[in-house]
Amino acid sequence: MHISVLLEESIKYLNLKDNSKIVDCTLGYAGHSSLILKQIKNGFLYAFDQDKNAIEASEKKLKQIGNNYEIINKNFVNLKSEIQKRTNKVDGILFDLGVSSPQLDVAERGFSYHKDAKLDMRMDQSQTLSAYEVVNEYSYEKLVTIFHRYGEEKYASSIAKGIIKNREKQPIETTLQLAEIIKQNVPMKYRQKSHPARKVFQAIRIEVNNELEVFKKSLLDALSLLDINGRICVITFHSLEDKICKQIFNEVSSVPKELKNLPIIPEEYKPKYKIIANIAPTKKEIENNPRCRSARLRVIERG
Ligand SMILES: C[S@@+](CC[C@H](N)C(=O)[O-])C[C@H]1O[C@@H](n2cnc3c(N)ncnc32)[C@H](O)[C@@H]1O
Repeated sequence: MHISVLLEESIKYLNLKDNSKIVDCTLGYAGHSSLILKQIKNGFLYAFDQDKNAIEASEKKLKQIGNNYEIINKNFVNLKSEIQKRTNKVDGILFDLGVSSPQLDVAERGFSYHKDAKLDMRMDQSQTLSAYEVVNEYSYEKLVTIFHRYGEEKYASSIAKGIIKNREKQPIETTLQLAEIIKQNVPMKYRQKSHPARKVFQAIRIEVNNELEVFKKSLLDALSLLDINGRICVITFHSLEDKICKQIFNEVSSVPKELKNLPIIPEEYKPKYKIIANIAPTKKEIENNPRCRSARLRVIERG
């Protein structure tokens, strides 16, 4: 089961009205979308996901609530073109990034270092690049860069060396084989903290799904789709996603540096967006769902 994170807060900040047009970029198991649909009886919900299992499960839930929704089985990188085919502006857009618990729990998806499966990690099962190609075909330099940049892994270099050495003998096929190689290539002390494969698995997942680039482009597109007083709520799960969100929100909600000291800011340079909230889960939510400990919700509004 997937426990939705920062659920009440994000719904509250979406400022839903009976006739709101809302986009849920990350439908997942419809935790957020179900609540949204209940509150927009005369509005419309567009919900993206690229995972067929998630869509199947959510379709069953949503159709019991209403029929004023459409599920778009696409990567949300297509947000702008897909929404513009259907409508002009929208009143709210939600991103609840990352993977859902069922994606982690189903061993065959290859996201988990606890369960044995083929190296996969594709959110979109029709895509060709999977964790197998990253682990078995990327150069040493590329592996180090990915582990370092996307996993903030301090033993990136020794882990990459371990991978190269092992794959020269035979291809690395499974999650547990990879987890074991990682374990063998970090100091003993490091193995006792959290699971030594956690950061590398995260890094490979980000690479396979091109998550940061996709998010950055989609967030910029989302800003351009907002109607006046419309809001974007973003729930992130690690510092790199949050950094992108923070930077973009700060940029579009402030006067350009070079103009800050002018006595009167020309109308066209006045920021069109304002930051509404930046919140973390409560202690209680973290106790109930430790997976959300690094989550953050940021909200911006078009003026
Ligand atoms: C954390 S879950 C969302 C959970 C959902 N808010 C709920 O309450 O059930 C993230 C979902 O977004 C999907 N997803 C992640 N990146 C995506 C992308 N670039 N395009 C489309 N769907 C994406 C994943 O497949 C997953 O189902």
